Amino acid sequence: MAEQTVRVKNIGLRGVTVADTKISYIDGENGVLLYRGYRIEELAEHSTFMETAFLLLNGHLPKDGELERFERQVVQAREIPEFIIESMEKFPKQADPMDVLQASIPMLGIAEQELNEETREANVRKAIRLIARVPAVVAAWHRMRNGDKPLPPDNALSHAANFLWQLTGKKPDSEIAHDFDVCLVLHADHTFNASTFACREVVSTGAHMYAGVTAGVGALSGPLHGGANARVMQMLLEVEKEVKSKDEIARWVNGKIQKGEKIMGMGHAVYKTIDPRAKILKVMSKRLGKKMGRDHWYEYLTAIEEAGYKEFEARGKSNIRTNVDFYSGSVYTLMGIPIDIMTPVFAISRVAGWCAHVIEEKFAEAQEKPALYRPEAEYIGHYCGEIGCSYEPMEERK
Ligand SMILES: CC(C)(COP(=O)(O)OP(=O)(O)OC[C@H]1O[C@@H](n2cnc3c(N)ncnc32)[C@H](O)[C@@H]1OP(=O)(O)O)[C@@H](O)C(=O)NCCC(=O)NCCS
Repeated sequence: MAEQTVRVKNIGLRGVTVADTKISYIDGENGVLLYRGYRIEELAEHSTFMETAFLLLNGHLPKDGELERFERQVVQAREIPEFIIESMEKFPKQADPMDVLQASIPMLGIAEQELNEETREANVRKAIRLIARVPAVVAAWHRMRNGDKPLPPDNALSHAANFLWQLTGKKPDSEIAHDFDVCLVLHADHTFNASTFACREVVSTGAHMYAGVTAGVGALSGPLHGGANARVMQMLLEVEKEVKSKDEIARWVNGKIQKGEKIMGMGHAVYKTIDPRAKILKVMSKRLGKKMGRDHWYEYLTAIEEAGYKEFEARGKSNIRTNVDFYSGSVYTLMGIPIDIMTPVFAISRVAGWCAHVIEEKFAEAQEKPALYRPEAEYIGHYCGEIGCSYEPMEERK
């Protein structure tokens, strides 16, 4: 007897497990995020982005000179090939930084000497070059669109500090450099989110890492994924302009929710409690606001948060809490990062997770993932009975 296929309809794959992973884990009910078994709070406090990237790619914390070697390899890969800079010079200056980044990844692939070398070791080396060069492309484009020359990397600076230097032309102080490094740690991976799934889906066809990461950047560029922190910052600037007191803010939040509008930076598809990354960013936002003379931003944000929680509770939605984007927009602005560079900054960090997932997709055991992702869709279109429509010549079409 022919085997029957069980067809299950699930719009958008919510809650459907499509593969196994050893890279990260989320417990949305309890607000837990682990990278390779380590809690995000532990990594934010004790690790660095370089060490976290090593952990994601290799599955263990570095030992015996492994971190120094890894950092040296990243530093040595920081320069972007000249032909890419020359190509970028021809891009229209108003091009969105995420589109420029997405256009640049295949060019980095063209320059890659091990592009189709499909061993685990070669893929780790490609990941190192991508982690080094994605920030360089973002910083170079920001300068070029403002009519400035890209700055050469400063190899004495950490990964985080060097990006801020290449972007702004100012060397950050140690507190800002450290805080930005923590932000990179917090955003480095998040299981099978849209961009990571896009990367994995593309490389499941046998395509190379650069093809996968290009798809990841495209998925991240959408406002439902990578763009929310920028929208929180725009919301904060709107509040700064229009409303000031706590009562006014509560009325403003109520008005938005009454109109069916979303409060940006709140709610999450997986977390049903406060996002653990938001707790860390909240503390950072308060401290940096004080340092930079913008304490009122933190006051406004906490007032929005408090009013939002009250509104959601009154509507029986007490599981809508602040997510990673709620405080990060203000943190990035205080670090001198422009609003339209916030999603590219997400990519600078997430590229570590994307590459780890690409490697897992390529080298996991067969029982842990499909040979090729191939979901189905229910056809709800036209088909004129069992055999399909008969083709009508142009003159007979109504
Ligand atoms: C992230 C998000 C899409 C999660 O979606 P979800 O878990 O699928 O939840 P839904 O969008 O289905 O929302 C469930 C209900 O809560 C409401 N809701 C969810 N987040 C809300 C928010 N931030 N502001 C106001 N209402 C919200 C929805 O309107 C919906 O109400 P309804 O049942 O009356 O239609 C959603 O919370 C959101 O759009 N948040 C704002 C954007 C944001 O911060 N995105 C970054 C995520 S990291």
